[in-house]
Amino acid sequence: MLLKPFMREGLFPLPVTFISTVSPAGVRNIAPYSCIMPVLRPLDLICVASAFKRDTLANVRETGEFVVNMAGADLADKVIPTAKHTPPDVDEFELAGLSEKPSEAVRPPGIAGCYAWMECERVTLHEEASYVLIVGRVLRLEAADEVMGADGGLDIEKARPLLMTGSRTGMSYCTLKNLDRKDPFAAMFPDGKDPVETLHE
Ligand SMILES: Cc1cc2nc3c(=O)[nH]c(=O)nc-3n(C[C@H](O)[C@H](O)[C@H](O)COP(=O)(O)O)c2cc1C
Repeated sequence: MLLKPFMREGLFPLPVTFISTVSPAGVRNIAPYSCIMPVLRPLDLICVASAFKRDTLANVRETGEFVVNMAGADLADKVIPTAKHTPPDVDEFELAGLSEKPSEAVRPPGIAGCYAWMECERVTLHEEASYVLIVGRVLRLEAADEVMGADGGLDIEKARPLLMTGSRTGMSYCTLKNLDRKDPFAAMFPDGKDPVETLHE
């Protein structure tokens, strides 16, 4: 089947994260963001693609801070309430019936009930005609103890990360299945040594 090029996100599931920010006046904002990725291992940078008409972008521009909240499948019913266009003076925690998880490194609060939180500061805004890439530095990264496995990795059966794929008829939500197969990072290097292994200690 041939698909229209813009349907890229129909073919690989994207994470559904919720980005929380506060306006300079102190109004709390939440928006789902799926166009998000880490910038290379082992950097502490994260890149978010944003359209221009976003209170999230305005808040990041003005305050330099945001929290990326990683949601489990149980939060799928919070996607539409936080994705709907809402005037910037509306508190979206109240609107969506979500509670705060206080942040330590930045002013915007995280969202209680998510399984992990990245507290970020803006590093750069790369602006093009129709989008902005927000590059942020993760100042503090926390995960709920109960979703972490013994090896310090995510227990996906406990976290049940919320993902989505897009199609002609909308967003289909999904989560992950463990293949019970693992490779060490070191396996991809010719000398069998992971050059950044010590960073994990
Ligand atoms: C699952 C999902 C993922 C989304 N991902 C993005 C995204 O990566 N970038 C973006 O600019 N908008 C994205 N949106 C749209 C915004 O969430 C939506 O426009 C929202 O109202 C913006 O809120 P704000 O104005 O409070 O920032 C997404 C919407 C949904 C439902």
